[in-house]
Amino acid sequence: MINVLFVCLGNICRSPMAEALFRDMVEKENLKNKITVASAATSSWHIGDPPHSGTLSILKQYSISTEGLIGSQIKKDDFEKYDYIIGMDQSNITNIYKITGQPNHPKIFRLLDLTEDNKDVPDPYYTGDFQETYDLISKGCRSLLKKIVIEHHLNNN
Ligand code: 4NP
Repeated sequence: MINVLFVCLGNICRSPMAEALFRDMVEKENLKNKITVASAATSSWHIGDPPHSGTLSILKQYSISTEGLIGSQIKKDDFEKYDYIIGMDQSNITNIYKITGQPNHPKIFRLLDLTEDNKDVPDPYYTGDFQETYDLISKGCRSLLKKIVIEHHLNNN
């Protein structure tokens, strides 16, 4: 199994959106039996909480399942458990380095560093723009799936 973890500050806006979107792409590519998808926060603020209403409504608008999205916090052991640990912004990356004790490890990177944007995913908790977040995360997730397919020589069988 290839295990993917998306990480943001609260695990109620961006990383659950990435989890739902990426799981949808994985299922549509028939890779469900090869790739697992999860998300977590660097903070403990929203453990056990459902996603933000803005994240739920935009996912529903695009007919992406929101099943099983529940707030959790990344822990040190997750470094061993996951093959790709993907932060939404640079402060997430700094916090993931601290929590895992693995600074600059290549399995930890920022989502949009896989695209030509090379920037943070803006936090809709503050911007209120869930559409912008959706568009950027969707672009980043497509690049991520390509990267994983290449790195693991996956086909659709
Ligand atoms: P997220 O956004 O990191 O994309 O889930 C936030 C969610 C909650 C808070 C901040 C950012 N908060 O302050 O509770």
